[in-house]
Amino acid sequence: MSFRLVVLVSGSGTNLQALLDASASDAYGARVVAVGADRDGVEGLARAERAGVPTFVERLRDHPGRDEWDESLAARIAEHKPDLVVSAGFMKILGPGVLASAPVVNTHPALLPAFPGAHAVRDALAYGVRVTGCTVHLVDAGVDTGPVIAQEAVAVRDGDDEETLHERIKQVERGLLVDVVGRMAREGWTVTGRTVRLGSRGPVPVKPETEGRTTT
Ligand code: GRF
Repeated sequence: MSFRLVVLVSGSGTNLQALLDASASDAYGARVVAVGADRDGVEGLARAERAGVPTFVERLRDHPGRDEWDESLAARIAEHKPDLVVSAGFMKILGPGVLASAPVVNTHPALLPAFPGAHAVRDALAYGVRVTGCTVHLVDAGVDTGPVIAQEAVAVRDGDDEETLHERIKQVERGLLVDVVGRMAREGWTVTGRTVRLGSRGPVPVKPETEGRTTT
């Protein structure tokens, strides 16, 4: 039985595409069963449709407030019974309803805890760092604060602007996300405090410290 992914997008969906491509092979061990977005008409949704994957859209402005939006989004996600939710360029903070429905991972274009938030590449350039990168992490209630699963560095080049640097980060990010999600599906993971260990399928930890974030 394949590990079920619901992927959330807000834009171009190149990370989603990498997951769709990887999961075309049974050996990957996971498949994208649905794609959700917080807005209509984005390329990420079109990618899902071309791949024959069901989509749904929950717009914040169609709800009286964030709590109601979160509940509706959680319900839409739950319809697809995910083993893992992947936030891949989803530009909204997820609420408690979604976080309770399944483990959630996010991909972020900086080396957290440096440069959290929606403008990570711009902020890294403005700070003048020479090395930045990408992070795949578990999502908690904060903004890009959840336990780190994997990171990869990308050098800043002289003359980089936000677009050129982000594009180089995204090339690395897609590979990292595909690798991490595949390993989570095939091998499981455990979380102890802030430490995430992949490839730990086997003995169940006696007392996992992070509720709902351990698979066997
Ligand atoms: C990625 O760099 C992601 O980390 C950031 O937005 C970008 C999304 O790219 N939050 P795409 O939509 O997957 O092409």
